[in-house]
Amino acid sequence: MPLHIDCLDRSRFKGEKSTLGLFAWEGERFNSEGWLDSRKEKTLEEITRREHFKAKTAELLIHYLDKEEPAMRLLLAGLGKRKEAQLDTLKQAVGKIAKSSFKQTEALWIDLPKWPEKTSLNALAQAATEGVLLARYKYSKHKSANEDSKKEQALERAILVVEKPDEIAPAQAGIKKGVIYAEAVNFIRDLVNEPPSKKRPAELAKIAKSLGTNRIRVRAYTKMELERIGMNGILGGNSGSPHEPVFVHLVYKPKGNPKKKIGLVGKGITFDSGGLNIKIGNHMTTMKMDMAGAASVLAALRACEKLDIPHEVHGFAPFTENMPGGNAYKPGDIIRAHNGKTIEILNTDAEGRVILADALSFACKQNLDVIIDVATLTGAVVVALGDNYTGLLSNNEKLAQDLIAASRLAGEKIWQLPLAQEYKDRIKGRFGDLANISVRGSGSEPGAIIGGLFLEEFVDSKPWAHLDIAGTAWTDSETSLCPPGGTGAIVRTLIEYLQFQ
Ligand code: BES
Ligand code: ZN
Ligand code: ZN
Repeated sequence: MPLHIDCLDRSRFKGEKSTLGLFAWEGERFNSEGWLDSRKEKTLEEITRREHFKAKTAELLIHYLDKEEPAMRLLLAGLGKRKEAQLDTLKQAVGKIAKSSFKQTEALWIDLPKWPEKTSLNALAQAATEGVLLARYKYSKHKSANEDSKKEQALERAILVVEKPDEIAPAQAGIKKGVIYAEAVNFIRDLVNEPPSKKRPAELAKIAKSLGTNRIRVRAYTKMELERIGMNGILGGNSGSPHEPVFVHLVYKPKGNPKKKIGLVGKGITFDSGGLNIKIGNHMTTMKMDMAGAASVLAALRACEKLDIPHEVHGFAPFTENMPGGNAYKPGDIIRAHNGKTIEILNTDAEGRVILADALSFACKQNLDVIIDVATLTGAVVVALGDNYTGLLSNNEKLAQDLIAASRLAGEKIWQLPLAQEYKDRIKGRFGDLANISVRGSGSEPGAIIGGLFLEEFVDSKPWAHLDIAGTAWTDSETSLCPPGGTGAIVRTLIEYLQFQ
């Protein structure tokens, strides 16, 4: 059942049989902003004290009000300290409210809180919308249905409440954006969570093709075509798999003349076994996520049309499994990439950069102003930045700063690492032009930087940025906005970037 998100002013509030979500700031006296009379407000304050409710970020208090109250069920969510307020806090708090309401068939009313600094109503409504829709995400298509799981999606209507009728229009615009952002994130989560043997290149190419419209053109290159145009990096990465690779090129055209031409390139390894350098221990367990970069590119292209982005946006997604079959590429093999440079394979598990070498070289021929790649590229970035920060490397400082600014607006975290040229000699091949890992091996090396330096060899000095999402694309823990599995990280940053260029 789809969940409809709407906006009404307070005079339209109908309390019976519904849930009302209110917010509180940490360390401040609770103020219901007129929702409760002073006696009821006092009672609620006493309850918060008794329950040790401190209004910390996303802390939740559930209270059933008397019959004559405006709402049957009151949810009070903490926003943390007012001076530390960020829109992400609101997303988390709304997520908590939403999560405890999904089993209700009645409406959920959420009072949009007053925000400290100059934050537009539009942005508040967008954040609240994202909060509801991200919290609602579930990947249950392979779970046998039961009564309880059906109930979990019962809520049909969430209403964001504004004070005055003239605030409805800006809030509606925010809701519209929030829906597009959340759908992009949840689209990626679905693809990442899909089992690896159900999302082989042919299947993902089919999904990419289904995104085609009269403004989005999709072309999928077959193995034979890839052989013809010398995409040997993709073919090499694919050689150990019985399933053919596909390289997808999508083009979104804006209505008028495009302001800029922007390329998005995503790593699409549908399963990374490591190849002959097979992954050991539990390192392979989550490797169905190795196509998260390509999924982000598809999601971003899909959002372009909905947001009427004024640029021509190209998406490039090389899809293949990395498997150790009898024909697999081997350490010592030398591969000539699409731009003519030869790559000496020292480790078959550093396959992402090998397929991206072709995709980036191909993108360079499309006359683009900017190229951004998104890839679950290195375990090293997880060591450097953990699972909350996406690594950013770029040959262009303006582009890097624009992406950082976009990430702040989107409420995602990225951190720039240096594209340290002094390490470049470490990827000089002995028998080929380049080695696909540091010639010093892969232990105690600056692996995330080495990965970036390798990719830089294929961008022809064009403005380019690389987002390493190996840490952020997947989570093993549960938060109010995301269950364990694919997170959908970084697509909101991409979409934000596309809007403000
Ligand atoms: N797909 C992995 C990177 C990865 C690791 C993604 C952990 C998500 C979580 C990538 O293809 C890989 O295996 N990289 C190697 C590179 C090494 C051989 C230089 C790595 O990080 O160990
Ligand atoms: Zn690998
Ligand atoms: Zn990989």
